[in-house]
Amino acid sequence: MNARTVATTPFTDQKPGTSGLRKKVAVFTAPNYLENFVQAVFDTIFDNAAAPAGTTLVLGGDGRYYNREAIQVILRMAAANGFGKVLVGQGGILSTPAASCVIRKFKTFGGLILSASHNPGGPDGDFGIKYNTGNGGPAPEKITDAIFARSKALTSYRIVDAADIDLDRVGTQSLGDMAVEVIDPVADYAELMESLFDFAAIRELIAGDFRLCFDAMHAVTGPYAKEIIERRLGAPAGTVINGVPLEDFGGGHPDPNLTYAHELVEIMFGANDAPDFGAASDGDGDRNMVLGRGFFVTPSDSLAVIAANAALVPGYAGGIAGIARSMPTSAAADRVAQKLGVPCYETPTGWKFFGNLMDAGKVTFCGEESFGTGSDHVREKDGLWAVLFWLNILAKRGLSVEHILQLHWAEYGRNVYSRHDHEALPTDIANGIMEQVRAAGATLPGKAFGNYRVKFCDDFSYTDPIDGSVSTGQGLRVGFEDGSRIVFRLSGTGTEGATLRIYLEAFEADPARQMADAQLSLAPLIAIAEEISGLRARSGRERPTVIT
Ligand code: G1P
Ligand code: ZN
Repeated sequence: MNARTVATTPFTDQKPGTSGLRKKVAVFTAPNYLENFVQAVFDTIFDNAAAPAGTTLVLGGDGRYYNREAIQVILRMAAANGFGKVLVGQGGILSTPAASCVIRKFKTFGGLILSASHNPGGPDGDFGIKYNTGNGGPAPEKITDAIFARSKALTSYRIVDAADIDLDRVGTQSLGDMAVEVIDPVADYAELMESLFDFAAIRELIAGDFRLCFDAMHAVTGPYAKEIIERRLGAPAGTVINGVPLEDFGGGHPDPNLTYAHELVEIMFGANDAPDFGAASDGDGDRNMVLGRGFFVTPSDSLAVIAANAALVPGYAGGIAGIARSMPTSAAADRVAQKLGVPCYETPTGWKFFGNLMDAGKVTFCGEESFGTGSDHVREKDGLWAVLFWLNILAKRGLSVEHILQLHWAEYGRNVYSRHDHEALPTDIANGIMEQVRAAGATLPGKAFGNYRVKFCDDFSYTDPIDGSVSTGQGLRVGFEDGSRIVFRLSGTGTEGATLRIYLEAFEADPARQMADAQLSLAPLIAIAEEISGLRARSGRERPTVIT
């Protein structure tokens, strides 16, 4: 089978963002768009040469529209670029954490994950592609920058002519000199989960009168949750809702938060007989939302509770090395780290910043306020892992989710937290708001707003403790004397205009003074954010698009 070299014209917009290259389907399906990007990845990782003999790639995606077609193209290009073998998930399916697990387990060179995470799918939705390195984690910035540079310079790509691979048949097929092994997308991941958690205890919990509901949002975690929660842990059929992955996620927005996971929210906050535990995961399975009966656990608190209860979970009972959280994530985990006597790192937004810390053995748990939690078992955040962690805690403690949080806050104090998103703003308006905050920054320290006195104001930058790389411009922080914070940050993943995120955090040490409604507790900080940014006047918007 001969590899063809196809002449092409470079695109100029193939810059991978926080989590890979993400564009509208119409952009991705334009002639040569996918091919150019894939060739730019291969050229970058193999220095413009063919893959060394025997190189293996992992390939799979979240099942969204164009997943299967893209996989066939990538397989043909992998064969033309000298790969020895590609491990591809059956049906083209691999959740992001499962892809990370497979890359690590089989020590492959790396992997390509096809997903636009929680963004809507379908012909009018988004598509995306991300390169993960041999440690199973997202490629670091120096690689993604090189991919972008290469994408702007390449003049051809390589591909073989061949019939489609049967993606539904598990087993090995050949594509020219390359082997394509279609693997069960769930098995390796499920085995890893069994090695970490006390499945016997969770099984016993579920066999009692404890009830749970998992919303897969018609995205990739359906098959994983059914196998693990229903089959291996014995939850009754129907525990997993929206469990069949659909190309357009059933028209939904597969983002597990209080706004988009409304079906689950209605179940958990609705009737008197709501289940004891509810959870949801996103398009590609790396995010999670955890709910108790009528009770929302913020992702920042979830990280803290997970860390505080690690001793109850077999995979972590031996102790943890440290915790890392993204800068906008609340400092709840810092308090747990302090008590455990382990370090807590504050990194820029994006899971890739945790990779070096985990590889160096400096941290065990990582988390982001954006519904991302995980550990060093893989190099991605992991939705189902977080759900199983919670189930393990609940099985061992025999308390409700809410009760566990009440006890946690009583012990550590509470970092009341909320994120306000202003989506799809015109870019110049979003930039104007950031500029206003930046300009005000110099005059803020020492200034009092009611009871809140500004301690510092800066533009967050981070020096990686392992490789010394510096990331600047990661968000404007306004810190107050009592530990409360406001952070202003522009999203790096949106595909429409600009999204401005305002992160609000009020520290409350006294459980007696902790209000049930976070928005009420945060009202003074919300007003300060408005005063500093002039957001309403500049944007003409009365309220955020999404509040979590
Ligand atoms: C968002 C989240 C961030 C997460 C990323 C990928 O990025 O805020 O924490 O790592 O999605 O899931 P943002 O749009 O804020 O740049
Ligand atoms: Zn995701």
